[in-house]
Amino acid sequence: MTNRTPDPARFPARFTWGVATSSYQIEGAPFEDGKGPSIWDTFSHTPGKTVGGDTGDVACDHYHRLDEDLDLIQSLGVNAYRFSISWPRVLPQGRGPVNQAGLDFYSRLVDGLLVRGITPWVTLYHWDLPQTLEDEGGWTVRSTAEAFGTYAAVVAAALGDRVRHFITLNEPWCSAYLGYGTGVHAPGHTDLKASYAATHHLMVGHGLAMQAIRAHAPGAQAGITLNLYHAYPATDSAADHGAARRLDGFQNRWYLDPAYGRGYPQDMVELLGDLSPHAQGLVHPGDTELMGAPTDFLGINMYSRAVAQDAPGEGFLHARQIQPEGSEYTGFGWEVAPDSLTDLLVRLQQDYAPHAMYITENGSTYPDTVGPDGTVHDAERTRYLTEHLAATQEALARGAKVSGYFAWSLMDNFEWAEGYDKRFGIVHVDFSTQARTLKQSGRTYREFLARTRDTVGA
Ligand code: FCB
Repeated sequence: MTNRTPDPARFPARFTWGVATSSYQIEGAPFEDGKGPSIWDTFSHTPGKTVGGDTGDVACDHYHRLDEDLDLIQSLGVNAYRFSISWPRVLPQGRGPVNQAGLDFYSRLVDGLLVRGITPWVTLYHWDLPQTLEDEGGWTVRSTAEAFGTYAAVVAAALGDRVRHFITLNEPWCSAYLGYGTGVHAPGHTDLKASYAATHHLMVGHGLAMQAIRAHAPGAQAGITLNLYHAYPATDSAADHGAARRLDGFQNRWYLDPAYGRGYPQDMVELLGDLSPHAQGLVHPGDTELMGAPTDFLGINMYSRAVAQDAPGEGFLHARQIQPEGSEYTGFGWEVAPDSLTDLLVRLQQDYAPHAMYITENGSTYPDTVGPDGTVHDAERTRYLTEHLAATQEALARGAKVSGYFAWSLMDNFEWAEGYDKRFGIVHVDFSTQARTLKQSGRTYREFLARTRDTVGA
């Protein structure tokens, strides 16, 4: 990369600048006002599943601190906020009776954003599946995809008069692979075959949700958010190039290809053999069209890159991800690789030509502390942020149609299996007092955004 300092003047005037969160990670209030249990309520309360036995029971107490948090978001100078809706808060049993109090919470959230001049970006599914649906098989069964379509219709009908941006799924790779394959996430199953059944029903659910949004919120922009990384071969050998191609297939193409109407990539279907949704008899006539319903944008969550080494006999991919020596790593052990964001965006533009691309998550975790002077000097996160903004700018210069960037995350929150141990916020949260403190990274983002406004029309 040539320039690691982003220049506000180099971003389009109408660029979307935001921060992102998700329901289970911040809301708390798991059983208030008629909410039903989600798989994350169950999972986090199961001993041994999260670091320190942490749960989202309180999290950032956002459910009770809505106005304060809306003011906080406004104070950053962002023009968009991405949040997710808790499905069991709206439909406590996954389908059937609507919980009006749950919908009202999100309605107030939307109104509170609009009154502050902030555009709401709604994610319909950020992993908190109603437990009742999991009890029927969760994403391994097609009826969950159908229930998701119905839920999408309820939300689009209720909020579609004010919400113009909907994301169907957040990171189906995580829901399927971590939730049903490795068991690291809820619902905690360890069955690869089930995880590939889940991928298919998630993508079918995405298609049904797209139909519901089109029907109930005509004119709204809608798309899907995938967690993508650029995969590089560890060496120039043909074998490592093959390994990079397989990792790319596993993480990226398995979702991108069906979302862009191509069905599942043939090389991966062959590699998966009995595991593939086809071999499991799950792909119905018309599914390719359904999963490939035209979208208005692609949401991209990017944290790192993959460096692939050929590893015959290892797993079903015969590939391993290595951590190059001499690189810098975040608190999660993820390599800091801003140039790979440029490569990823340029590649997506070339291979899929989405109508628009939005970076819907990008961020880093470090063990922050509030200093004696009351501030948080998160120099590493600040650098991570500015370098990834510069990488986005570089992608724009190279022709990638990027229309927005959301920092993950507005504030420290419940980081899934890692509990409260991993802080990703640009705002620090003291979980014993719920005090919010803007970190240095948050200040830097705010100052950068103020400068983007100065350049509008210049
Ligand atoms: C992504 C998730 C988000 C958060 C970040 C760190 O995979 O979408 O909820 O956990 O990672």
